[in-house]
Amino acid sequence: MYQLSFSLEEFLAEYWQKKPTIIKGGFANFQDPISPEEIAGLSMEEEVDSRFVSNLNDEWSAEHGPFPEEKFAQLPETHWQLIVQAANHWHQGAAEMLEPFKAMPNWLFDDLMVLYSVEGGGVGPHIDQYDVFIVQGQGKRYWRVGEKDHGQYNENHRHTALRQIESFDTLIEGELEPGDILYIPPGFPHEGKTLEPSMSYSVGYRSPKEQELLSNFADYVLAHEQGDMHLHNPELNTRRNHSEVSNNDIADLTKMLKAAMASQDNVNQFLGCMLSQSRHQLDIVAPEEVWQAEELVDFLQSGKSLYKVSGLKSLFLEDKPNIAYINGEIFEFDSEETHIVTTLCNYDEISAEDFTQISHESLIHLTALLNKGYWFVAD
Ligand code: SIN
Ligand code: CO
Repeated sequence: MYQLSFSLEEFLAEYWQKKPTIIKGGFANFQDPISPEEIAGLSMEEEVDSRFVSNLNDEWSAEHGPFPEEKFAQLPETHWQLIVQAANHWHQGAAEMLEPFKAMPNWLFDDLMVLYSVEGGGVGPHIDQYDVFIVQGQGKRYWRVGEKDHGQYNENHRHTALRQIESFDTLIEGELEPGDILYIPPGFPHEGKTLEPSMSYSVGYRSPKEQELLSNFADYVLAHEQGDMHLHNPELNTRRNHSEVSNNDIADLTKMLKAAMASQDNVNQFLGCMLSQSRHQLDIVAPEEVWQAEELVDFLQSGKSLYKVSGLKSLFLEDKPNIAYINGEIFEFDSEETHIVTTLCNYDEISAEDFTQISHESLIHLTALLNKGYWFVAD
């Protein structure tokens, strides 16, 4: 079982989005949940997002997977690393090391990136717009983090895909050993250099940009055919200045612009849908045979469990806990059955005991979730 050796609550108050820190022994007795061979195996899969970065003789290259098996037979001894994004979507063990981070809001969580690197490997000095906990697994890496970016850093064009910067002065530095955690807030330049063949686990959090909220809201308005009307003004007056847009015109247009957002229910629904969409591909496989609601009742009564697809985002809003937002879709349960929504959203495994009393409507939703492949039964 994975457990942090420190209080996340105290950590948030002191460091979150404020300053970087190294937490020695952040995980006590950390055991790697995945092996370098498994990382290589994942990077050969079409649906898994992977990269290979090499910096031998200071010549930088970055390639995207999937990689052929032969690639791994002829690798140099030093100066490369293999990166797999959203490893928690494809590897159960990797997903389990995220357990202690469940005290953080899931809507902010992005993915677990796993990286295997050999001596001299790294991606060079760069700046991310993510909050990241970099957990050191086997091996050792030396890390440096600089002062927050206020426009003082220059881009380096050695390799366009790597978005490196020229250099930065050290604010904090240290050698990470198994179980140590480096936390880096967004905007702080950093660079890791591998000292011994290493596994690193980047637990990434990404908050939305204002422009993403706006553009996603516009998409939502279009998809829901909201605001499909022109400005209506039967009180139009003549104008002294043919070219002028009057304050009243501006006020009418501004009102129209804000109208969709004036309904909090509408905004809530939009946010639930948007925040429950993962930015990374999920391992969703619809069942070969469609489930009927009665079959599901029998199944649950047999005492067996249902499992959630790893990394599937399932959220509910504080004010409306009977609505589950799952993978961008809305499932409205009976208002007496908020415990079903909480259980579905919070846990990765559910069993009959969780649902001793269940209404027909909730059963229909559960059946739909199974038929979409969002939950599944073990083989
Ligand atoms: C690395 O571990 O070298 C890359 C991860 C990062 O810096 O964001
Ligand atoms: Co980074």
